Amino acid sequence: MFPIVQVDSRRREALEPLGTKPKFWYRDPDGRQFLFKAEERGTGEDWAEKIACELCARLHLPHVHYEMAHDSHRDMPGVVCETCAPPPVMMALGNQLLQTLDPAYPQGGKYKVHGHTVEAVCSAVELLQLSPDQYCRNLPDGIDSALAVFTGYVMLDAWIANQDRHHENWAALLCDDVLRLAPTFDHGASLARNLSDGERRERLASRDRGRMVAAFARRAKSAFYADPSQTRPMSTMEAWQAFSRKTPEEGIIWMRRLEAVSQADVEAVLKEIAPQRMSHVAREFSLRLLMENRRRLLDGGE
Ligand SMILES: Nc1ncnc2c1ncn2[C@@H]1O[C@H](COP(=O)(O)OP(=O)(O)OP(=O)(O)O)[C@@H](O)[C@H]1O
Ligand SMILES: [Mg+2]
Repeated sequence: MFPIVQVDSRRREALEPLGTKPKFWYRDPDGRQFLFKAEERGTGEDWAEKIACELCARLHLPHVHYEMAHDSHRDMPGVVCETCAPPPVMMALGNQLLQTLDPAYPQGGKYKVHGHTVEAVCSAVELLQLSPDQYCRNLPDGIDSALAVFTGYVMLDAWIANQDRHHENWAALLCDDVLRLAPTFDHGASLARNLSDGERRERLASRDRGRMVAAFARRAKSAFYADPSQTRPMSTMEAWQAFSRKTPEEGIIWMRRLEAVSQADVEAVLKEIAPQRMSHVAREFSLRLLMENRRRLLDGGE
């Protein structure tokens, strides 16, 4: 089983105001800063975050490392991660970068932002350097720019059905006057974690094509727009296709990484989540969804 890190909310030093879920920062005995993200609604964000993190590791993507956690004071499940911006490093979120490049980029809200286009995001990411060394030790040969890494993030999103790559869920790190792409973070809204077990069971058993996991998988929406005049965001698969057109050779390298992760590898990750945190049917559904999306990615998008 994955370890469960015990935290005590009485030791918190600051609340994190960004994002929608309650979370706080604390220090471990060595003085390192960690974020506890509470899973107070019982919607599976803890297991989704941990599974996504382990899949990032298998793809060799620069990522924030999450562990399962428990706040013993409030008896609350959650996950923890270390900051990727320890002082003097500073984080600049996607929307801040986009606003610097285009003063007309929309302020406020993070959902349904039509200016969050593939073009705009590529222009911003192209100005960044690779993520800090400690996140790049495993980077596949041939992945040597921030945009190539970001294309990997977009493939990850299509694989894990992450619909939440909005402009506060990617970022740059300012390290010694150099802006670098931050490791990927915040994947708690993936893997259809908020479906009820009843719906999972029904979809897994259904003989109606429209209810099957394959049909469900095709519905995943990204937070990217093809252009600002579009009323609908791109699907996660369309976003992947658009980014891999920007970096075709690197797109193939990421696909080869995905191909190298077998069903047995995915099952081994799912098995490590404690049964009291993730139901049997959620495990079964996640496996089917991941294998279906993997198949679609390797088959060219359908
Ligand atoms: N490892 C980290 N290092 C530094 N800053 C972080 C880290 N993890 C999160 N943050 C900061 O905290 C914010 C909120 O965290 P996160 O995105 O994980 O939470 P969330 O509530 O799930 O967000 P959302 O509303 O996007 O679902 C991030 O936008 C980022 O500014
Ligand atoms: Mg977030």
